[in-house]
Amino acid sequence: MPHSDHTSIDLAVIGGSGLYHFSGLENATRHTVETPYGPASGDVVVGDFVGRRVAFLARHGESHSLPPHRVNYRANVWALHSLGARRVIGVNAVGGIRADMGPRVIVVPDQLIDYTHGRDTSYCDVEGADVRHIDFSEPYTESLRQSLLQAARKRGVPIIDGGCYGATQGPRLETRAEIARMKRDGCDLVGMTGMPEAVLARELGLDYACLALVANHAAGCGDEAEISIEEIFAHLAAATAEVPGLLSALLE
Ligand code: HPA
Repeated sequence: MPHSDHTSIDLAVIGGSGLYHFSGLENATRHTVETPYGPASGDVVVGDFVGRRVAFLARHGESHSLPPHRVNYRANVWALHSLGARRVIGVNAVGGIRADMGPRVIVVPDQLIDYTHGRDTSYCDVEGADVRHIDFSEPYTESLRQSLLQAARKRGVPIIDGGCYGATQGPRLETRAEIARMKRDGCDLVGMTGMPEAVLARELGLDYACLALVANHAAGCGDEAEISIEEIFAHLAAATAEVPGLLSALLE
């Protein structure tokens, strides 16, 4: 398949906790992108995957040095856009609130509620930028969501279609009362990095969907008295193992 200038990136992937490298990328090149918003979380790695051009960026940095509230979401999304990406999949570790969203379950949410604060949530708030009020009724791009679901069906990977992602500030996990409130609000999942990434992608006109990997029962939702980080990473590793197969089915 002909390719190679990086204006023709077929898919960009932002890896979350547990996904710091995209091992299937061939002929990979690293791009340190200068952005008007400062540095991205690290280099964008662009390479070939099942004959397509894929760009990968580790959201927390390749050595997981950036906590969720310190990630430069604007720079990350800008960097992918400036390399020519038009479709972005955000892979996010989450806690499951809904009963059928236990550890290792994979979900493609269709809604979100933003509980974060103090993050740079827009490209409009720099001097001289136009003020725009973009539509965000549907925070994820439906066609890209459907592509993920179809890929899962093709691979025989169980996946849940839809759900509401509640984005919390972190880096601490939530209290039981906070999760109970989020449940009353209609949240099915809780994570720390889904916003403002989704809205920034929308502002730049990118297609964006979230691939949520359930790492644990959210606080008070399981039998555990405490959520252990070791357990989170063990479940995450299991769910993350499905990601390359899903993405190859999506791209083939
Ligand atoms: N809460 C918030 N973010 C998370 C969780 C959680 O329980 N698990 C993985 N990411």
